[in-house]
Amino acid sequence: MNDEARIQTLLERMTVAEKIALCAGKNFWQTNAVERLGIKRLRLSDGPRGVAWHSSGKRGTSFPPAIALAASWDRDLALRFGQALGAEARAAGCGVILGPAVNICRTPLNGRTFEYLTEDPYLNKELAVPMVRGIQSNRVAACVKHYAANNQETYRMKTDVDVSERALREIYLPVFEATVKEADAWTVMAAYNAVRGLAACENPDLLRSKLREEYGFRGFVVSDWFAVRRTRSPASVVKAGMNLEMPGKGSKLKAKNVQQAFDQGEISVADLDDNLAGLLRVMLLTGHLDEPIRSTAGKNVSTPEHQSLAREMAASGITLLKNDQRTLPLSRNQLKKVAVLGPKARRRNCLPLWGGSSGVWPPHEITPWQGLKEKLAGHCELVRSAKDADVALLFLGLGHRPGQDSEIRDRKILDLPPKQVALLRKTLRENPNTIVVLVNGSPVSMDWADEVPAIIEAWYPGMEGGHAIADVLFGDVNPSGKLPVTFPRRLADSPAHRSERTYPGDGATVHYDEGVFVGYRHFDQEGIQPLFPFGHGLSYTTFDYSELRVSAGPLMADQPLELSFKLTNTGDRAGSEVVQLYVSDRDCPQPRPPRELKRFAKVHLEPGEGREIHFQLAHEDLAYWSEKGSAWVTDSTCFSIGIGASSRDIRLQERYRQVS
Ligand code: BGC
Repeated sequence: MNDEARIQTLLERMTVAEKIALCAGKNFWQTNAVERLGIKRLRLSDGPRGVAWHSSGKRGTSFPPAIALAASWDRDLALRFGQALGAEARAAGCGVILGPAVNICRTPLNGRTFEYLTEDPYLNKELAVPMVRGIQSNRVAACVKHYAANNQETYRMKTDVDVSERALREIYLPVFEATVKEADAWTVMAAYNAVRGLAACENPDLLRSKLREEYGFRGFVVSDWFAVRRTRSPASVVKAGMNLEMPGKGSKLKAKNVQQAFDQGEISVADLDDNLAGLLRVMLLTGHLDEPIRSTAGKNVSTPEHQSLAREMAASGITLLKNDQRTLPLSRNQLKKVAVLGPKARRRNCLPLWGGSSGVWPPHEITPWQGLKEKLAGHCELVRSAKDADVALLFLGLGHRPGQDSEIRDRKILDLPPKQVALLRKTLRENPNTIVVLVNGSPVSMDWADEVPAIIEAWYPGMEGGHAIADVLFGDVNPSGKLPVTFPRRLADSPAHRSERTYPGDGATVHYDEGVFVGYRHFDQEGIQPLFPFGHGLSYTTFDYSELRVSAGPLMADQPLELSFKLTNTGDRAGSEVVQLYVSDRDCPQPRPPRELKRFAKVHLEPGEGREIHFQLAHEDLAYWSEKGSAWVTDSTCFSIGIGASSRDIRLQERYRQVS
């Protein structure tokens, strides 16, 4: 019997009471069971940076969080990360891993920026799609969260997001659409917030018209934990297509309430069947109905292979923001005393619930201090004073505590804590050869940036982070990360921070007045110089861009545009460059961002090596959402393409015409 026939048979055999019982969870992490029909409880676990101890009872690999993965701009790494995550989830006995988390970084103050990937919709989907594929290749359901427009922690449970259809389509939804259409994501999490007047958990436009009808979603939607509380009634939730309320305890969809709605004719058997089909389908897709998913491991699901992947991810995401006079890499043969300073040098970041629900408890964690100690053993002395050191490595940043990089509360300021800035100034007075290594998961302002010769953004580098940082500082790894978010000079420069209306709102509503001008789209439009632009990141080698060729003739609806150019490593080290292609619409009747990322590739080259890079652009890559026509349109005739090393470092440019 095929899956769909099995679902039908199960639905026919289930009583109404059994169907009702499956609308909400059994407890905090499991669904209800119908033992009589072989439907066992299914366990869901946080996610998304590893299998979380608080929900699985297991220690897992603590990978760097999403922002660090995004900084690697590496699709293959995203796939392998997904595979590892899926494998650990399965070993832990979980059929659903609550990730990836994909909300757009609209404000740098969002406490969950570290858990999300980027401010750009294209980069977002290009990494989320392989992640979902990787997770599900282990027959574990990915859960793409939080659907939708869940871009701040302040008022997260009560706010309503006032956002235009165009901004939804162009900025906030593409990642959900792509993970469903291209990767067949099996579950999606409905967010805490409301969107345009209706809670995400009872929003038929989001859950039915878009997710199911337009994107073709076939799995189940789970509520964010306690998110259903704010909805109007059990019937409005079930009818909107929100399939599973979590957690079970205290749920609005508890049996008594749903039964009452059923008895009063507000919910029909067809509604219940429709609601359950997705849950049963995922149980079939994961194999849970044939052989219930059970833990196969002891108390630890982390493996040495996954730990080396965590190290590779950390190294690949580390972003070299500044490197005057080739201060970096350091050479351990030329140094005698290295000062390792700052509150983040010895701090652990991978602990249960640190940062909120994504916190993972790994079997060990290598701090920067430990990584450096190992790297420099037998070569140079590690000291705690900058004064007589050859170089001072100063570890600054934020922590996974509420009010910094953590769930529930947003940050209050863009700056580093004032004590850390004071420490920086003191260290600089003692030793001008001070290199700053930042450990944080969201942009910080740096009015001190001109005073230091080199700055590294290490993000939260996960359980193997200390090794990765030492590898980059001492040149065993050539940094190749690029910023997935703009680093503004000051908070007021950010698009969401024009007024209280646009952030955080008054509690009832937050207005996304900036429309599609999110992240670098806003900085470019307003001509604001950021501290470090989107896509920025240096290398220990240099790359030359040349010989841009664009296929002859105008771009037509059915004929993609072919582009090629040459990338050459002109330095003396092997390295990887993330080449980025931006499109500008020159004569659109509607306001459009001056530049939009449409393609990228991460290219590894040996010293002196050159390679021809090819990109294709299709007609739809040029489109914008027309509110008037409720459709994607490309009504301009003139576009330009920029290819470069960041959104503000365009090396090659070409104009072309298109015929509609
Ligand atoms: C978070 C989700 C998480 C859930 C379960 C919520 O507070 O928003 O991302 O998966 O809790 O821990």
